[in-house]
Parts: sequence; C-alpha cells; structure tokens
Amino acid sequence: MNWLKKHWGWILVCILASLPLVNLLEMLSFNFEDNTYAFLLFDDYEYPPHIADQMDFDSMPGIKYASQVTGEWAIRFLLAILMCTPLRILFGWTCSLYTRQAIGITTGVYALLHFLLFVTYEGVLATFSEPELIIGFLACIIVFFLMITSNKRSMKWLKKTWKKVHRLSYFAGILALIHVILMKEDWVLYASILGVGFLLRYKPIRSKIEQVRVKKAKTKN
Ligand code: HEM
Repeated sequence: MNWLKKHWGWILVCILASLPLVNLLEMLSFNFEDNTYAFLLFDDYEYPPHIADQMDFDSMPGIKYASQVTGEWAIRFLLAILMCTPLRILFGWTCSLYTRQAIGITTGVYALLHFLLFVTYEGVLATFSEPELIIGFLACIIVFFLMITSNKRSMKWLKKTWKKVHRLSYFAGILALIHVILMKEDWVLYASILGVGFLLRYKPIRSKIEQVRVKKAKTKN
C-alpha cells in the first residue's frame, strides 16, 4: 500500500498515456502479404454524425486522424510537465521525479509518433516545406533530446548542465504553440495554460503567492 502511495503519479501517467494508443491501435492493421501496399494500414476515421452533418465529409484517412491525435496528446503532456512548477507554487502540490520522468517520456513518444505519421503520409522532405512544420520539427528535436536524457544516468553525466538543458522544455512549449497557431488549429486553451504557467513563475508573483501560502499554513497550525 505504501508503495502505491509513493508511485501512484507515474502509474496514472502510464495509464493515461496508453489509452489513446489503444484507441489508435484498433484502427491499425499490418500488411504482411502484398509488397505493393504500405506495411501499416489505417482504417478511415468516421466522424460522429453531428460533426459529419456540419461538414461535407463523413470520414478522414485514419493516418491523418492518428497524426492529429498524437499531436494533441504531445502538446497536452508537454503542457502538463511545464505546469508541475506552477502547481507547486499555487497549491504546494509536488510532483515526484518519477512522475515528471513519465510525463517527459510520454511527451517524447507522442511527439515522435506525430512526426513519424506525418512523414509516412507526406514524406521526409515535406517537413522542410513550410515554416510551421520546421518550427514543429525543432520542438520535436528538443522534446526528443529531453526524453532520452530523462533518466538518472544522464543526470549524473550532465551534472549541473542537466537542469539548464531541461529548461529548454519552456522553449519547446513556445515552439509547439507557435506550430499549432500557424497550423490554424485550436490554440487558445494551450496558450492560456502556457501563459498562466509563465506568469506564476515570474519571481515577484511567485514569492507573493508563496508568502500567502506559508502564512495560511501557519495560521492553520
Ligand atoms: C513537439 C512537437 C509537436 C507538437 C507538440 C505538435 C502538436 C500539434 C498539435 C496539437 C496539432 C493540432 C492537432 C489537431 O487537433 O488537429 C498539430 C498539427 C499538425 N502537426 Fe504538429 N506538433 C509537433 C511537431 C510536428 C512536426 C515535427 C510535424 C511535421 C513535420 C508536425 C506536423 C503537423 C501537421 C501536418 C499538423 C496538421 C494536422 C494533421 O494533419 O496532423 N507537427 N501538431
């Protein structure tokens, strides 16, 4: 029971991270027989009737749907990791190293899947055809680098530089947001969360909030 109390954070992240993948795997089949077709085959995604009514189409290629879903989850987990410190400032909630590692690795996996799915249906060179894709690519490289250094061995190896390097996650968050804005996808919620996060980290605001929290805790005792 004690073990579960200590480790529930990363277990929850792993469960949450696997749900969208299970959904996507249901749409996927493997082609072992016919070399003239792609190896990975996605079923088309059928829009729910109320959305299909508003649009001219009732389905979209499954691979495009998978690319959208993985992009959405990549930015959600990226924002989740960037919100660990603001949540600690605001409510005193701490996020264990294991939980942060699990969120970081999940962000990397989803960003990589999002990119690989794009490359599968558009080709590698298409990545460098538009500024918004290049910006997404830069975010993806940073997130990937952070993912492979999210372990104790890298922490030991990079020492003080580890913290500095991992501050690049803020930059990745900004690049990912610019990418989504330029792709003309829904970005307001993501921008608001990122904005509030940055505001709470701003030293004068941060120390004010922390003072209030300490005062409240003292009066409680
Ligand atoms: C950390 C890196 C990245 C994040 C967090 C990210 C996130 C997102 C998000 C949230 C969307 C909107 C999805 C929707 O609701 O439709 C999106 C769309 C898109 N992204 Fe990314 N992205 C990243 C990197 C990339 C890269 C490297 C590429 C390709 C070179 C790319 C290509 C696209 C494309 C083509 C769309 C339009 C929707 C689609 O058809 O998939 N993204 N991205």
